[in-house]
Formats: sequence, structure tokens, C-alpha cells
Amino acid sequence: MPTYHESIMKNEVLHYLNIHMEGVIVDGTLGDGGHTEFILKNTGPKVRVLGIDRDQSAIERARERLNCYRDRVTFVHGSLENLRDIVTQSGLTKINGLLLDFGVSSPQLDTPERGFSIRNDGPLDMRMDNSQKTTAADLLEKLKDAELVSIIKNFGEERFAKRIVRAIRREQEIAPITTTSHFSEIISRVVRSPRHSRIHPATRTFQALRIAVNNELEQIKTVLSDAIQLLDSSARIVAISFHSLEDRIVKTFFRAEEKGCTCPPKIPICICGNKPTLKIHTRRPICPSEEEIALNPRSISAKLRVAERVYV
Ligand SMILES: C[S@@+](CC[C@H](N)C(=O)[O-])C[C@H]1O[C@@H](n2cnc3c(N)ncnc32)[C@H](O)[C@@H]1O
Repeated sequence: MPTYHESIMKNEVLHYLNIHMEGVIVDGTLGDGGHTEFILKNTGPKVRVLGIDRDQSAIERARERLNCYRDRVTFVHGSLENLRDIVTQSGLTKINGLLLDFGVSSPQLDTPERGFSIRNDGPLDMRMDNSQKTTAADLLEKLKDAELVSIIKNFGEERFAKRIVRAIRREQEIAPITTTSHFSEIISRVVRSPRHSRIHPATRTFQALRIAVNNELEQIKTVLSDAIQLLDSSARIVAISFHSLEDRIVKTFFRAEEKGCTCPPKIPICICGNKPTLKIHTRRPICPSEEEIALNPRSISAKLRVAERVYV
């Protein structure tokens, strides 16, 4: 049996999705299908899942894993930014829940050829969707210095962004940077990890480049906003984030939609007419238990937030 991605907070996901006797749950980040399998195993035969992933190999792995539930799952190779079209083309007008488990999966991280790994050498690729044209190596070649600094600073929250870009440019005068080991070695030359830290000095820059290659943050904004139209009354969004940039987008979006009204605080009565569309179920994010972190160290930074569609 293949080694699958270890799904995070499975019980919490199932609990917070609050699935009824029937309906369609969208797993927008299907990955290895672990969450979907857990949902299907623990719900009745009239509950179906529409599983989406932009990584074709994830779809194939999940299809094999979920073979015994094949009558209850539809697989779609596609991106979250196209959720509206995917749902419509599947013949649905409303959905009864949306699960978003952002970021990369273990098979993506652990396959050196995919180019996500700092520690194992591979091509500097980082595309979740291999049919997409631009790789991380392409971005290093074609972006202007200021754009690259901005990406590393903003998406990696890396304060040495300028220093890193100078080092990249010095190296590119000698040879193009096409492998993960070459790239991480360039960064290690100019950035040190804090003493006693086990985090590789290139971690932030790798994260930044991955976010840029896959346009990850914009996709999150789009899927959340499209979900408002698609969620049926009392259907929930369960979102798991892995770093502060993702979590901030989810938190800010949920709060704005719960408030509805966008009038400036000085105005005594609402003139915008915007109504709340979500009710938040997690004032603070849910985090994995110590036991789960011990069993699956990659879960350590996960934060789960939940909001429910309300029609007022
Ligand atoms: C953390 S894994 C999900 C693991 C899954 N929940 C499980 O239990 O096996 C994230 C998956 O989401 C996919 N993904 C990330 N961003 C996406 C996007 N914008 N559109 C579609 N899929 C995306 C990745 O390709 C990856 O397979």
C-alpha cells in the first residue's frame, strides 16, 4: 500500500462540517483523499464528495484509494479559483460543505522531482499543477529584482530578502539556478538560521517562491468569496491553514462576512445594506493536539477555522 499524506485533524474536520443525512461536500484540496475517505466512511450513502485538486497525480492516487467509494465521489482536476465553474459543470447549484486543507501534500514535498524539497535535490520546479507553464526556476529568471524582493519579503516574511536577491543575481551571472540544492545553498551562504534552530535558512524563501509559482494566496481569496454564493443555508466552510499568511486571509474574510455591514463606524445607521453571510464557529483557531503533533510533526503549524453560511 502506498504511504499517504497524513490527514490533519480528521475528527475535527468531520465534526465541524456538521454533515446531514444527504448532500454534497466539496473537498477543494483532495490531496491523497484522506479527509474525503474519513468523511465517506463516517456518513450515510446519500452523502457525496466532489474532490478537486490541481495536481493530476493527487487525483490518480485518491481515485485508487477511494475506489470502494467510487459511487459517492466525483474527481476533478482543477484549481480552487475555478470552483464556481467546477460546481456548475458538475450539475450542482448549491453545496452542503466546503473543506479546504491548504498547502502542499507529503507526496509533493517528499518527491524530489517535484522541486518543493529543500533537503532532497531536484529540479527547481514547485508547480502543484504540472500542466502550468511557469516553474520556480522560470520565475527566478524572469522577475525583476524588486518583484523578487517583494515576493521573498511578503510571501516568506523574510527580512533578508534583498540580500538573498543580490546573492541570486551574483550566482546567475555564472550559471542559471535550476536545482533545489543549488538554490538552497545560495541562500545558506547569506542567511543563517537562529542558533539552536532546526529550521533550514532557505525555508522562508522556498515558501515564498512556492506561493508565487502557484498563486496560492489569490486562489484562497477567490475560493472563499465564490463559496458564499455556492454554500447552501447552514453549510459550513472548514479551512486548515499552515502559515500566518493563509490564516490571516481566512480570519479576515470570515470576520468581514460575519459583520456584513461595511459602513464607516461613524455612521449611526447602516446605509450600505450589506448583510452578514457567515457565522463564525471558531473565535480562536483549532490546533492539533499534542498527541497528533507527536504522531505527525508536519501538523504543528496547522490552524483550523470554521464558518457557517447564514441567509438573513
Ligand atoms: C495538504 S494537501 C491536502 C491533503 C488532503 N486533505 C488529504 O487528507 O490527503 C493539499 C492539496 O491541495 C492541493 N491544492 C493546493 N492549492 C490548490 C488549489 N488552489 N487548487 C486546487 N488544489 C490545490 C495540492 O495540490 C495538494 O494536493
